[in-house]
Amino acid sequence: MTSTFALADVTPGHAKSIEHLLDLSFGLSRRTKTSYRLREGNTAVPGLSLVAAEHGFGLVGCISFWPIFAGNVPALLLGPIAVHPQRQNLGIGLALMREGLSRAKSQGHRIVLLVGDEPYYARVGFARIPDGKLLMPGPVDPKRLLFLELAPECLAAAKGLVLPPHRHAALARARS
Ligand SMILES: CC(C)(COP(=O)(O)OP(=O)(O)OC[C@H]1O[C@@H](n2cnc3c(N)ncnc32)[C@H](O)[C@@H]1OP(=O)(O)O)[C@@H](O)C(=O)NCCC(=O)NCCS
Repeated sequence: MTSTFALADVTPGHAKSIEHLLDLSFGLSRRTKTSYRLREGNTAVPGLSLVAAEHGFGLVGCISFWPIFAGNVPALLLGPIAVHPQRQNLGIGLALMREGLSRAKSQGHRIVLLVGDEPYYARVGFARIPDGKLLMPGPVDPKRLLFLELAPECLAAAKGLVLPPHRHAALARARS
C-alpha cells in the first residue's frame, strides 16, 4: 500500500478530526499520560502544528509541539504525534516529524524532548536523556524520555524539573 498525503498547517476546522484521531490512536485514557501535564494551561507553538491529509480519506496524521522548560532551558515537547491505524508504516509519521523539526529549527528552538519508543524516534536523531538529569511532572519510563538538540551542546545546561512555561515562572517567583 502507498499513501499520497500532503502536509498542512492545522486550522481551527481540524480540531474535531484531530481529537478523533488521537482517541483512535491512544485510547480515551490518553489524557492521564504525564505528557498531558505539560500541555495543560499551555498553548501549542504557532506554525508547528501540522496535519497530514489524503484525498478521499481525510485526516491521516497530526503532530504538535509545545513550549516547555527543561530545568531553566527553554525547550519544546514533541507530541502528540499520531497516524491513522489504517495508514501506518507509510512514512507519514516520519514526514510529519521531519517537517515539524525543520520548522522548529528555523524558528530558533534548540532542544526537543518527547516520551516515546527510542528505536522509532532515533530515526530522526532522538536519543535517551541520561538518567536523573531531567524530572518529568509525573511517572515516565526513563528509557522513553528522549531528546534532540537542534543546536549543538544545548542539553548540557538542562537539568532539573520539566515544566510548562506558566509553572516554571510560578516556581521561579516562589524561589525568589
Ligand atoms: C508511532 C507512529 C506515529 C508512527 O507513524 P507511522 O507513519 O506509522 O511510521 P512511519 O511510516 O513514519 O515509519 C514506519 C517505520 O517505523 C517503524 N516503527 C513504527 N512505530 C515504531 C515504534 N513504536 N517503535 C519502533 N519502530 C517503529 C515501523 O516498523 C517502520 O519501519 P520500516 O521503515 O523499517 O518498515 C504511528 O504508528 C502511531 O500513530 N501509532 C499510535 C500512536 C503512537 O504510538 N504515537 C506515538 C507515541 S510515542
